[in-house]
Parts: sequence; C-alpha cells; structure tokens
Amino acid sequence: MTRVVYVNGRYLPYAHAGVHVEDRGFQFADAIYEVCEVLDGRLVDETRHMERLERSLTELRIPMPMARRALGRVLRETIRRNRVRTGLVYLQVTRGVAPRDFPFPKGDISPTLVCLARRVDGAARAERAEAGISVRTMPDIRWGRCDIKTVMLLPAVLAKEAATEEGAQEAWLVDCNGFVTEGASSNAWIMDRSGALITRPTGNAILPGVTRRTLLDLLSREKIPLIERPFTVAEALSAREAFITSASGTVMPVVAIDKKSIGNGHPGELTLRLRSFFHQIAELSDE
Ligand code: PDD
Repeated sequence: MTRVVYVNGRYLPYAHAGVHVEDRGFQFADAIYEVCEVLDGRLVDETRHMERLERSLTELRIPMPMARRALGRVLRETIRRNRVRTGLVYLQVTRGVAPRDFPFPKGDISPTLVCLARRVDGAARAERAEAGISVRTMPDIRWGRCDIKTVMLLPAVLAKEAATEEGAQEAWLVDCNGFVTEGASSNAWIMDRSGALITRPTGNAILPGVTRRTLLDLLSREKIPLIERPFTVAEALSAREAFITSASGTVMPVVAIDKKSIGNGHPGELTLRLRSFFHQIAELSDE
C-alpha cells in the first residue's frame, strides 16, 4: 500500500496527492519516468536509472528538477516513509504547468516531480518465475523514439490489455518487418540452438533497459555468447529458451508465445541461472 507520495517538495498522504489539471504530463504526456527495483530497502542500479532519466530529460529539453543527489534523497525518503523493503519506486518528471498550448511554454516554468513507492509481493513474483509467463505478439504501433522513457504509454496499455484478455502476462511488439522490438514493458530475449542469447540492439525502436544493460555485464562475466540483432517471431517460436528483462521482474522466463510452448514448456535452465545471479552483479545502494 502506498501511504505517502512526494509531489513537488512535499510528502503528502496518498489520498491527497495530486498535480494541477493543466500539468503538461496530464494533457500532452509531456513527461518522462523511471521505475527502479527496491530490494531489502535498497535501490537496484540507481546510477543507471539516473543516467537514463537525465538522458530522457535532455532529449525532451526538460530541465533536471533538482540535482542527482537530491533526487536520490527523494527516492530514499519515499521508500522509507512507505516502509518498502521489496518493491518498486516510481519517479515522474513533467515539463510543468501552463495553459494548454502545444509549443513549449515561454518563460520559467518548473518541472513537476512526483515519486511513489510500492511494495511488491516477492513470493508471488518468485512463483511466477518458477512457472514462467506467456506472451502474445502484436504489431508495434508506437512512435519513432521508443528509446526515450516517456509516459506516452497508450500503445503499451492496449497491448498489455489485449495480452491479459488472452491469458498472457506480456505482449511482444513486432515491427513491420516481422522482427520483435521488445515487450510492452520489458526487453525481449531468446536463446538459439547453439546456446547464444539474442536480443535486439539498442536504437530508436526500443527502450535501453537498465536490466538489459546489467544483464550484458553478467553475460560477459559468465562468458555466455551474445548476439545483438533483431529476431523474428518464427525464430522465437523455435528458440530453446526465452525471457524478458525489466526492473519489475529482473529476468523472467517466457514459456509460451502465442499459446505455443517454448523449449520444453518450462523455464529455461540458463534463464533461471541468470535470474539467480542477477542481484550479484547489479548495483545496490546504501539504505
Ligand atoms: N518498464 N522496454 C519497455 C517498453 C519498458 O517499459 C521497460 C520498463 C523496459 C525494461 O527497462 P528496465 O530494465 O530499465 O526496467 C523495456 C517499467 C518497468 C515499467 O514501465 O513499469
């Protein structure tokens, strides 16, 4: 349960936390966000999340709402006040409040900053990983700058809803050439017949996942072959293993795509090994 929300310098009770009706995040999705895993009350990969946040802001020409260290304090205080040990912290920055007009507002407007922390049921997540998840493929109808972590998430919402209605837990988005771009809220990976992992290279078509990046470090530590290239749905269907990566699920096995089993229909051996090693290699903050 979220008890306290940080909004523009104040920690407010959940029921009373809000932003202005003319916030550009609300009217134009003129905003970016980050989601960071919390483990034993510590931030996972804070540095990489902060780097990506700054990059997203720079791409949209929104100023940093405060210095990085101060942002770190907001994250920690929000986690502390909500007594989150295992969970997620969500940070959103919008361009700010101004009368509705498409171009950037003139003059000095301050960005809006919101931070929420929420507990996650670790046991339920572990059970999900033991069983593996199902994904549903669908056309990628998003814009041309998916590398920026904006709150413009309607295509992801619709894809996830369609997947959920069919009993799947994630949607894999497919570009007009038949290649998987990524999940609606995760990066997509497969293991081919030779045992090499395949994932799409970063670029405008996908979000450069922090979990993806940290997993690359793990792969080089473990000397696991990696090929960064796009893969098709047909290749995924004949893969030995498949999984997704995200801050909310770290490495999550995929056992079915479009209702067809992957490998033997159980979470892959390598996938589970990478999942169990993940937090050894990720950066864990102080509390
Ligand atoms: N989603 N791709 C997309 C489209 C995402 O939304 C996410 C994250 C990822 C994985 O990125 P990371 O490893 O940095 O979490 C890839 C977050 C968790 C969310 O929207 O809740």
